Amino acid sequence: MCGIVAYTGKQAALPILINGLKRLEYRGYDSAGIALTSESETKVYKAKGKVANLVELLAGQEDSLLLKESTCGIAHTRWATHGSPTQENAHPHASPENQIVLVHNGIIENHNQLRAKLKADGYEFLSETDTEVLVHLVDSFYDDDIYDAVIRALKQIEGTYGIACFAKNQPGKLIVARRGSPIVIGMGDQEAIVASDASAIINYTRQAVYLDDNDIAIVQGGDIEIRTLDDSLVTRQASEIDWSPDAAEKGGYEHYMLKEIFEQPEAIRNAIRGRIDVNAGNAVLSGLSLAPRELVDLQRLVVVGCGTSLNAGLVGQFATEDFAGIPASVEQAAEFRYRNPIVGSRDLVLAISQSGETADTLAAVREAQQKGALVAGLVNVVGSTIARETGQGVYLHAGPEISVASTKAFTCQVSVLLMVALKFARAHRMSHERGKRFAEEILAIPELVERVLAKNDEIARVAESFVKYEKAFFIGRGYLYPVAMEGALKLKEISYIHAEGYHAAELKHGPIALLEESMPVVALLNDGPGKDKTLGNVYECKARNATVLGIITEGDEEAKQAVDHYIEVPDAPLHTAVVPATVALQLFSYHVARLRGCPIDQPRNLAKSVTVE
Ligand code: F6R
Repeated sequence: MCGIVAYTGKQAALPILINGLKRLEYRGYDSAGIALTSESETKVYKAKGKVANLVELLAGQEDSLLLKESTCGIAHTRWATHGSPTQENAHPHASPENQIVLVHNGIIENHNQLRAKLKADGYEFLSETDTEVLVHLVDSFYDDDIYDAVIRALKQIEGTYGIACFAKNQPGKLIVARRGSPIVIGMGDQEAIVASDASAIINYTRQAVYLDDNDIAIVQGGDIEIRTLDDSLVTRQASEIDWSPDAAEKGGYEHYMLKEIFEQPEAIRNAIRGRIDVNAGNAVLSGLSLAPRELVDLQRLVVVGCGTSLNAGLVGQFATEDFAGIPASVEQAAEFRYRNPIVGSRDLVLAISQSGETADTLAAVREAQQKGALVAGLVNVVGSTIARETGQGVYLHAGPEISVASTKAFTCQVSVLLMVALKFARAHRMSHERGKRFAEEILAIPELVERVLAKNDEIARVAESFVKYEKAFFIGRGYLYPVAMEGALKLKEISYIHAEGYHAAELKHGPIALLEESMPVVALLNDGPGKDKTLGNVYECKARNATVLGIITEGDEEAKQAVDHYIEVPDAPLHTAVVPATVALQLFSYHVARLRGCPIDQPRNLAKSVTVE
């Protein structure tokens, strides 16, 4: 949510900052801005809308020496929280005469009190943002020492922040800090590039230092000094970013979403590589460091997550109960800490998050830790806050997911959750023989996905018949219920068609009242337990003139006859059929959105990674 990039070093800062902003645009895209500084000049440039608008604004000022020669600057791409997406509200914000210039991610909760005080002290506000409060606050403490002014200001802040700022009188020196909103410092030779996520720095360096909460760093050229808010010097280990710059490029695809859908076979292979021992009929999840006794004593699995990660969690719940016989539940991370959950030392709370930065999921992790539960993360972004705070878990290894709509993270999450279920099941009641088969079923997932991807053109043709609708239902039962939920989420977020996912049995308890010709139904009809019942629901829908799209098992003539349109997916046990069925719906949603001319990678009002409540 919002992107920060900052540079100090020996190269011209502008191209590095613009390139970084483009990389970060998936985090927020309603306005963008940049500030550059040199010995003689400091200027702020801002534009409403996408980074391209900012680039256009700067292109009109080609003769500016500052733009050409400045070697220090900060930049931001915004997802509005306080104040609408206007040029005034765009970051960077500056104090009078650009004395202090600052970009900020997060939310300052006590901004109203601080604003009133600063106004009384004579500060004039040009925007509605909480960030402008912070920049004036820093200015109010500034006495030729930017570090000291920032630390004094941050001590007065309630809320969350990731910031980068500089003082006009100290060009080349950046102060960056974090509490609740990530900051990574990429280290180069006599230069440093700071960002809110690693995708903005991988073109320049793979060596990165992640700040912890309450860290504040002084960055000048290649020198980095990290202190805590109480002014103690600390050391943070540098780590290597393990994905290549190409992974964050579109690679010839029209959209990141399509590229990421097509990356799934490889992403899932990476997620399961080295983690399945077929001979032992077990999963080898070394990051999940539960002692054998803890595994045997495990009383309950509680999965927490949001959105797509929550939908994946449902599959984990079903598989854990089904195969391990361990009671399992899935909780919306946003509710977890507010309802005094009952978890203890024999319960494993598994936090699922692609980004590893989702505020509600992180808060659930902290609450579970407070209550003494075993806590682990199932995270994609290495070094992210949830990964670090849980201290144990399983990385997805899905590679960077840039498109706002989550695709490969979901299928990797499901694959990893099945491995977790296998591990628990083998420690509890699953036989060696069943374990071997289960392991092979997981290993077969990438190929199942390849077979669905081969039907891309066919799915695009099916999508043509659904472009005209403004609403849709998705129904499924058992393992296919989470697929219905995820299918509906994908369609609504990228095509703006109002789509709802239901357990097929729920239709009759209310939603059926809405069925008519203009309400198509997507039915998950894979062969397996529950199919006949869902087929019954399909007939009920047809009787009310709804057009039905069935996701059906290859060659299922009965299902073909029942529906108006179908997409065939390979035969597989339902716990793994979840993955190819979801991929079919990802492609379906993608093509519907494409045909409707929607901005697929950056749907309105959304941003990748929701780091505020
Ligand atoms: C939907 C989507 C969101 C995320 C949710 C959680 O396509 O991307 O629903 O799944 O915001 O994000 P993470 O997994 O990063 O915690």
